[in-house]
Amino acid sequence: MDIQFESSLQAILAKALGDVAQATNPSELEQLRVHYLGKKGELTQQLKQIGSLPPEQRPLFGDRVNQVKAELAGALNERKIALDSLALEASIARESIDVSLAGRGKATGGIHPVTRTMQRIEDIFVAMGFGVAEGPEIEDDFHNFEALNIPAEHPARAMHDTFYVDSSHIKKTANNAHESHLLRTHTSPVQARFMLDSKPPINIIAPGRVYRCDSDVTHTPMFHQVEGLMVDEGISFADLKGVLTSFLQQFFEADLSIRLRPSYFPFTEPSAEVDISCVFCTKGCRICKHTGWIEVLGSGMVHPEVFRHVGIDSEKYTGFAFGLGVERLTMLRYGVDDLRLFFDNDLGFLEQLQ
Ligand code: PHE
Repeated sequence: MDIQFESSLQAILAKALGDVAQATNPSELEQLRVHYLGKKGELTQQLKQIGSLPPEQRPLFGDRVNQVKAELAGALNERKIALDSLALEASIARESIDVSLAGRGKATGGIHPVTRTMQRIEDIFVAMGFGVAEGPEIEDDFHNFEALNIPAEHPARAMHDTFYVDSSHIKKTANNAHESHLLRTHTSPVQARFMLDSKPPINIIAPGRVYRCDSDVTHTPMFHQVEGLMVDEGISFADLKGVLTSFLQQFFEADLSIRLRPSYFPFTEPSAEVDISCVFCTKGCRICKHTGWIEVLGSGMVHPEVFRHVGIDSEKYTGFAFGLGVERLTMLRYGVDDLRLFFDNDLGFLEQLQ
C-alpha cells in the first residue's frame, strides 16, 4: 500500500489514541469520536482520497482505514468504560456513610408531671379495688349542678365561675331548671352519671379535666381533678377516713396523719376538708403556713338529695365522695411552687420531673 497514505493514517491514529487517553470525561470522548469518526471526521475524510489511488490498491486502502477506525472505536469504548467506573467510584466515595461516627442521639418525650400524678393516683386506687370511670367534659346543667343538689339560683353556682358553651341553648324548662351546656366545673357530675347507670355497691374514681373561668397565679382555666365515690349499705365516715388516709400515705410515701375539718358542699352532708400533716417540716414552714397542716381535698357523705336525683334509696344506702386537685397534689409531691410551670411547656422544667 502507498507508504504516504499509511504513514498519515498512522499519524492520525497515534494522535487520536493520545487524545483518547487524555480525555477526562464522557463529553470529551464524544467530541473526539465526532472529530475522528464522524461523517466529516478526519478518518472519514481519508476515505475520500481513495479515488486518487490506482484501482488495485483501493480495497486494501479501504480495509486499512476501516481497521484504524475500528481500533480507535475500541479505544474510545475502553476509555468510556474506564471513565464511567472512575465516576462511579468517586460518587460512592462521596456518598459513603461513616458508620463508625457517633450518632446525634434522639431525645425521647416524657410524660407530663400532671399526667404522671394522675396515673399514680389511679394505680393506688385501682390497687384498693376502685374502678375508673369517665364522663364528658362538655356537660349539661343537670349533671354538673342540678343532680348534685345545686339548683338554679343556688349561691354555690357563683363559686364555680362556669364557662357556658352556647348561651342560645339556655332556656328555662318546666321545672325552672336551666337547660344549657357548659364545661364541667368539677368531676362530680361523673358521680351522678355513674349512679344513674349502675346500682350499689359502687366504688369508682373519675379522673379528668375541669374548667373554671378563673386565671391568676394559683388558678388556671383548665385543671385536673380526681373524683372518688363509694356507695353501699353501711358505708360510714370511718370508711372515708380510712380510704383517704391510706391513699394519702401511699401517695406521699409518708406515714402522715390526716385531719378532717367541717366544710360545706351542696352534694355532701356532712362535708369535710381533708388536711395532711405537713410533709415538708416538723415545726412549721412556708408551705403549711406554720400550721403544720396542708389542705389537700374536699369530701363528705353523699347527700340524700343526690341519691334522690339518681334513684338510689338513701334509707338503704350511704356513701362517701371526695374530689382532689391533681395540680395541687403534684406541686406538693414534687415541691413545685408555681402552678403556671405546668402549662409553660418549658423543657428545662419538664425534664427535671422525668
Ligand atoms: N366537687 C368539689 C369541688 O370541685 C370537690 C368535692 C367532691 C367535694 C366530692 C366533696 C365531694 O370543689
